[in-house]
Amino acid sequence: MGPRFLDDERKFILVREGDDRHLSERSLGAWCSRHRNDLVQMLDHHGGILFRGSMAADADALGRFAADAGFTPGDYLGGSTPRTQVRGDVYTSTDLSPLFPIPVHNEMSYLARYPRFLLFFCVQPARRAGWTPLADMGRVYARLLAALRDRFDRLGLCYTFRLSSRHPNAAAKTWQGSLGTVSLDEACEIARRRGLEPVWDDRSGVLTLTSRRPATLRHPRTQVPVWFNQAHVYHESYADELAHHGRPVLAWVVRQVNARQQYVPSRFRTGYTVTFGDGSPISREEIRTLREALWAETVTFDWQPGDLLLLDNLRAAHGRTPFSGKRRILTYLGDDWPGTEAAPVLDQAPAWPRSEEVRTPDIAH
Ligand SMILES: [Fe+2]
Repeated sequence: MGPRFLDDERKFILVREGDDRHLSERSLGAWCSRHRNDLVQMLDHHGGILFRGSMAADADALGRFAADAGFTPGDYLGGSTPRTQVRGDVYTSTDLSPLFPIPVHNEMSYLARYPRFLLFFCVQPARRAGWTPLADMGRVYARLLAALRDRFDRLGLCYTFRLSSRHPNAAAKTWQGSLGTVSLDEACEIARRRGLEPVWDDRSGVLTLTSRRPATLRHPRTQVPVWFNQAHVYHESYADELAHHGRPVLAWVVRQVNARQQYVPSRFRTGYTVTFGDGSPISREEIRTLREALWAETVTFDWQPGDLLLLDNLRAAHGRTPFSGKRRILTYLGDDWPGTEAAPVLDQAPAWPRSEEVRTPDIAH
């Protein structure tokens, strides 16, 4: 029997089911370390690997696996989602309210440094939904209209994060929470190292961080252009995601709250916004076209306790759907990869390498 995928037609996200019940996170980690080249080649071809049935659903297992597999841990300084450090290099995937969907995105693509690899580990799946949708950003790039890609490629993006000193909420963390320090000087230094330009306002206590980033990248290994940004996450039309996930009332509430922002003096406003790199607005129509491409290229799966998902963060985007019940998905950010190169505009998408060329050796002790 050939390899299985979350999406068999697109051969996106290879599924490796452990057939040895004695295989632990230690032996799986050691296998990944020994077969690093094979592992990276599999990621080049399939964007990610779901290891199923090999690990106990134990919160410490992810850290042990990552260390044995030889990943270099990254931190989450400058990151936007509320997240708890569980132990060492292991974080909760997000602490955002289960009411809100997180659109698929490349982790930390608004910063000058971002992880090359992402690990997600399921300790407890939600009672209902709480999926981690995944999108192939090479296919998203190819699917988007040339005119739209051209505009994003030429102009790039400007993200603005306005962070309060005291009031974290669903829309924004505090600057201390985002940058991991209570020292303003240190926070500004950390921000600059992450490619964020800080501006402090003493009267409002708001730290504004601005990041100018390309909207696309050429994948450094496969040379395939990928959509690599979070324009749709921070765009004012976020409520459209709520409507898409069957939450029209909440979408209406969010639109009302956003509309009232205009009555708040600008220096006191907090939250995240995005424009093109030259400051011009990204239209709702452009973002709608983008969202439709992302939704069309998204696959989902049901988490099982002990599932370990390894993603190439440059190729495979991830998100989170709303859910009910308790959900505990942990994450590990591996091997920082600074990248600045924007992909050129192409007339047509290049073909992916043939999946038959990928070796998938058996997992052994
Ligand atoms: Fe994320």
